[in-house]
Amino acid sequence: MDVKSLFVENFGYTPHIVAKSPGRINLIGEHTDYNLGFVLPAAIDKAAYVAIARRDDQLVRLFAKDLGEHYQVDINLLPENPGHWSAYVLGVVDQLQKLGKTLSGFDLVLTCDVPTGAGMSSSAAVECATALALNALFELQLERLDLVRLAQKAENEFVGVKCGIMDMFASVMGKDAQVIQLDCRDLSYQYFPLNLGDYKIVLFDTGVKHSLAGGEYNLRRQQCEQGVAVLKDRFPEVNSLRDATIAMMDEQFRTSVSPTVYNRCLYVIEENLRLEAGCTLLLQNDIHGFGKQMHGSHKGLSELYEVSCKELDFLVDLSKEEESIAGARMMGGGFGGCTINLIESSAIDAIYERFSKQYQSIMGRELAMYVTVPSEGSQLIKFD
Ligand code: GLA
Repeated sequence: MDVKSLFVENFGYTPHIVAKSPGRINLIGEHTDYNLGFVLPAAIDKAAYVAIARRDDQLVRLFAKDLGEHYQVDINLLPENPGHWSAYVLGVVDQLQKLGKTLSGFDLVLTCDVPTGAGMSSSAAVECATALALNALFELQLERLDLVRLAQKAENEFVGVKCGIMDMFASVMGKDAQVIQLDCRDLSYQYFPLNLGDYKIVLFDTGVKHSLAGGEYNLRRQQCEQGVAVLKDRFPEVNSLRDATIAMMDEQFRTSVSPTVYNRCLYVIEENLRLEAGCTLLLQNDIHGFGKQMHGSHKGLSELYEVSCKELDFLVDLSKEEESIAGARMMGGGFGGCTINLIESSAIDAIYERFSKQYQSIMGRELAMYVTVPSEGSQLIKFD
């Protein structure tokens, strides 16, 4: 049933607005966004959908269809982070209120086919769909980039994860068949068509949910900031790891920070370089060359940034034995979730069969697979 019909079934009347916002993949450039570097994401063909209608009173009534859960609250008495799915909706309301926008109550139904905890940004999808819907419902006239920033702040301040801007940017700004090369320092970006020839983007989901990642994620951010503070003493032009170079990572820096902070910084600087090289290779249609950069990215994420886990490492190691896989790496925040792979179309089914058997026998878990394509970002859905 579509989200509009779900709304009618649940609330007994027709919604005013239906909005959709997708999850995302990221080809390369991980943990670089909050270091003001580059990322290479795309929106995908899985999304969060919200149907929404204005109320005359101050009540907000929410229904998360996939969980079968209801939640309601007075819009002027928002709780601190309630610690569950409603935070992604209420965080957006909270940000709109902080912008001085006056909202009345509303009814909202949410459904989402982006798998949760799989590193495909279901939370950003929900936040962006909510932001787009509320913007239209209350005629707030916010631009798409305003919605991106607002959704990020909702996650940072209400949910409490100090994430960067990549997920929301990809969800809102995604384009069919294009990846986005985004400079997270000034939000300049360019689309370029992803011409993968016989290869497809395949995600293998470890089934390990990254529920503890919040704390570790924020810790990585702090460690990067520590590195920047030390570098800045000698190189005042360094305001983020984006401004740092390998040459700055000399003996003096090495001995001024802990080995952990050194490794975190080294990874980020190298990842920005890999992304730059990777974009050139993609433009030359060199999928295998790009795949090597993906392997380099995974190694750095696993050994230097330490955000991988044994299940992700296992899947990436398996992929290296397959000729028809050009590249593979963990994707997103880490500690679970998916690997992203570039696989020759004709080999996908056989590889999935082999991988799922081995994954089951060694890791004792089921392996899920999603084949995906770069897709259009947030949209209002018209209906009669
Ligand atoms: C999560 C965050 C993003 C980004 C990635 C890692 O998905 O939400 O902002 O930092 O991790 O690249």
